[in-house]
Amino acid sequence: MHYRSYLIESFGCQMNLSDSERIASQLESLGCISVTDHEQADIIVMNTCCVRESAENRIFGRIGALKRLKTKNPDKVIIVAGCLAQKDQESIFRRASHVDIVLGTQNIDRLAEIINEKQRRKHWVESADYALDGLGESIGENRHAGVSAWIPVMYGCDNYCSYCIVPYVRGRERSRSTESILKEICAFAESGGKEVTLLGQNVNSYGKNLPGDWDFPRLLAEVDQIEGIRRVRFMTSHPKDFGDALIQVMATGKNICKHLHLPVQSGCNELLQRMNRRYTTEEYHRHVERLRTAIPEVSLTTDIIVGFPGETDEMFEQTLAFVAEMKFDAAFTFLYSQRSGTPAATMDEQVPHAVKQARLQHLMDLQNEISLAVNQYWVEKSVEVLADGPSKSDPSTYSGRTDQNKLVLWPTTPEDYPGRFATVRITSAQTFLLRGIAESERTGMQI
Ligand code: 5AD
Ligand code: SF4
Repeated sequence: MHYRSYLIESFGCQMNLSDSERIASQLESLGCISVTDHEQADIIVMNTCCVRESAENRIFGRIGALKRLKTKNPDKVIIVAGCLAQKDQESIFRRASHVDIVLGTQNIDRLAEIINEKQRRKHWVESADYALDGLGESIGENRHAGVSAWIPVMYGCDNYCSYCIVPYVRGRERSRSTESILKEICAFAESGGKEVTLLGQNVNSYGKNLPGDWDFPRLLAEVDQIEGIRRVRFMTSHPKDFGDALIQVMATGKNICKHLHLPVQSGCNELLQRMNRRYTTEEYHRHVERLRTAIPEVSLTTDIIVGFPGETDEMFEQTLAFVAEMKFDAAFTFLYSQRSGTPAATMDEQVPHAVKQARLQHLMDLQNEISLAVNQYWVEKSVEVLADGPSKSDPSTYSGRTDQNKLVLWPTTPEDYPGRFATVRITSAQTFLLRGIAESERTGMQI
């Protein structure tokens, strides 16, 4: 059987998007091209997430929906990859017998080989082998198209936050070799790339398993020197490993974006301790103070979980007070989700769903007010925006992002194209975006 086309559905975080790019490279090495129609695709990959139960249920729904296509065309290959594949392995075949391949998180680079051999067996489970020390170093360079690329710098996580399943499905922390990272980014820059986002579950512990004295600030400074790359982003930072060395590089770098995603998870020290986060709200506060002093106009985003086991009204109030004080640009807020196998799943005092939901709503209302107020700062200012393309719902509007990672919309001008750096004068602010008018390149006047 010769496979000609593929379609990948990606769920979850940026690391999954990056893995999807690697999956796509593997499939393209087999001669397949990307298509958008499920009926037409010879190979369908579901690249899954299991960080919360809600994601999991949605994905099983999507996998179930593929059964009809497989019945109609039994030659179609259905692959389930990613974190849920790693977690549930064989049981995915029981729940969805039309699935052909379950691919663990550490076997992406073997996908082409696995498909080539597929005819010989019915079901395949390719799960992780965490014993492979230094696996990160063997991860090859990927080719990227377009102007922006996700660049994984490390895999896995050793932090074992008590609510989180990631360390169990992505294995031990492994840094990728600096040489390989820089090579990939240089090749991307040569092909017209302008923006990179360095990815890892905890980028601040980059380099721990590498020879030499590589650490994340040093890597970031090195990436900042690559010619052609105009924006360098990174995520995610863990507050326990965040510090002045990184602030220094962010402040003095030429192309490092003024944006930090620093998940706080809770504004209550007792809960932070039970979450095994290993920092206090006071320490977090100090990081933010130093950051904001060193980099005026820096934007700060965070993640917060509500309804962690044992969270009382009073503890939740502490989180609200902390959020009010920090004035985050944006917060990703989550209902705590019980993940079996994690320590928090068996803790006493699980919070009832209705209570969690009410708290989440309260927190979102507060943060939305803050985001709107913070965004007002940009009104009447001119900002440099990296243009993405016309808005899908309204082609007369163009969209792009600022250095601070704020979404900006403006009326499309003849000068706009994806990948252009446009200067946009902001005219109004909303909770999740800014609106403005592009200034003409030639005259500096608004059009
Ligand atoms: N329940 C709710 N949110 C979770 N996260 C991770 N695990 C869970 C869970 N069990 C959130 C954290 C993390 C983000 C990526 O997902 O806030 O920073
Ligand atoms: Fe999960 Fe904590 Fe690791 Fe983030 S740092 S992936 S929340 S265990």
